[in-house]
This record gives sequence, structure tokens and C-alpha cells, in this order.
Amino acid sequence: MLDTINKQLRKVPTRVVYLLGVLPALWVIYTGLNAVDPVRGIEWGLGLWAVRLLIATLFISPLRWVGLNLLKFRRQLGLVAFAYVVLHFTAWLTIDMGLRWSQIIPDLYKRWYILIGMSALILLIPLAMTSNNASIKRLGAKSWNRLHKLAYLATGLAMVHFLMIGKVYTVEVLTYATILVVLLAVRIYRNGAQSLIPV
Ligand code: HEM
Repeated sequence: MLDTINKQLRKVPTRVVYLLGVLPALWVIYTGLNAVDPVRGIEWGLGLWAVRLLIATLFISPLRWVGLNLLKFRRQLGLVAFAYVVLHFTAWLTIDMGLRWSQIIPDLYKRWYILIGMSALILLIPLAMTSNNASIKRLGAKSWNRLHKLAYLATGLAMVHFLMIGKVYTVEVLTYATILVVLLAVRIYRNGAQSLIPV
């Protein structure tokens, strides 16, 4: 059964991930514009999809361990996740803060959850920039793999950012946090804690 699915997946072009990746953004804009608070609706929606896609990217390895091979889509999925992080950040800068730098700069270090979200975004930049064949060649597979372990730390920080926002922990945020903890635990169990640390 999984063999058949893997065989079919081999025929699917990777650019499909980019095409599908646009759909949540369109949905977020549509629902956001119809929400009571469109700014929050769009900003939160993009942040939520960023979390979902970051976690989905981390699922690719464990799925391969159980026989489902989605490896060829991982780069595209990671880049789409990064695009959502950037869009979420851009929504905060523009429609939320109105590019008022006098407010933006203090917010960056006064509000802990913003600082943590920012750290996650910064950690993801080298990953996005090296998600191409030329970088793998230039860095070498070993260094490249080491660098890309930062994805776990970045997603962990993104989750902390998400948890810090809610004054009340909803089922939704606790579900994502639990999924991430289970994913990390499975990885540690299988490959050891060093598999999460970029050293
Ligand atoms: C990997 C990076 C990030 C992820 C995955 C992420 C994700 C999220 C999520 C899921 C939410 C809450 C949505 C909800 O409650 O439904 C959120 C809210 C928010 N995020 Fe991020 N975020 C990231 C980075 C950032 C950055 C860099 C900034 C700004 C510098 C930022 C600013 C905010 C703000 C202002 C809110 C709304 C808080 C509120 O309404 O009280 N985030 N983010």
C-alpha cells in the first residue's frame, strides 16, 4: 500500500507544494477581511499557518521511518513555511504597527513573545537561504545537515512564542505543542538528543 503511494508520489512535481502553499494565504485573507478585526484575523491566520507548516516539515523524516516517502517535497514545504513566517512578520510591521518605527523598535525588545518570534524568524533565514542544491554542494552534506538541525530550535521558539501569546491555553495551542513535543521525543528516542543540536 505505502509502496503504491510512494510510487505515485514520485510522479508528482515538487512545484505542486508551492501551488498548494498559496491556498491557505488566500483563505486567511478572505476570512480575515470578513472577520470582526481584520488586522488580527490576517496576522493570526498567517502565524497559525506558519506553525502548521513548520511542524508539517518536521513530520517528513518520521513519516519516512514508517515507510511514507515525502522527502522530495521537504525543501518546498520548508520554504513555504518560511514564506508564511515572513508574511506574518510583514503583517505585524505594516497592517498592525503601520510601519511606526518609534513603536516597532521598543516592541521588539519590550515584549518577550515578539523577541522570541523574532529569534525564530532569524534562525530560519540561513535555512531558507541554503535550501538549494548549490548550497549543499558548497557547504558539504555534513555541515549542511548540521545547519539544518536549527529547524528544531526555530520551531521550538515559534511554539514558545505561540504559547506566550495566549492568556488562556486553548485546545488548539496545546494540541500543536503536544504534537511538537511528541515529534521531538520520537526523534531523540530514535537518533539521540544530538540529532536536534547543530554541533
Ligand atoms: C517562526 C516565527 C513565528 C511563528 C511561527 C509565529 C506564529 C504566531 C502564532 C501562531 C500566533 C497566534 C495566532 C493565534 O492566536 O491564532 C502569533 C501571533 C503574533 N505574532 Fe507571531 N510568529 C512568529 C514570529 C513572529 C515575529 C517575528 C513577530 C514580530 C516581530 C510576531 C508577532 C506576532 C504578534 C504581534 C502576534 C499577535 C499577538 C496578539 O495579538 O496579542 N511573530 N504568531
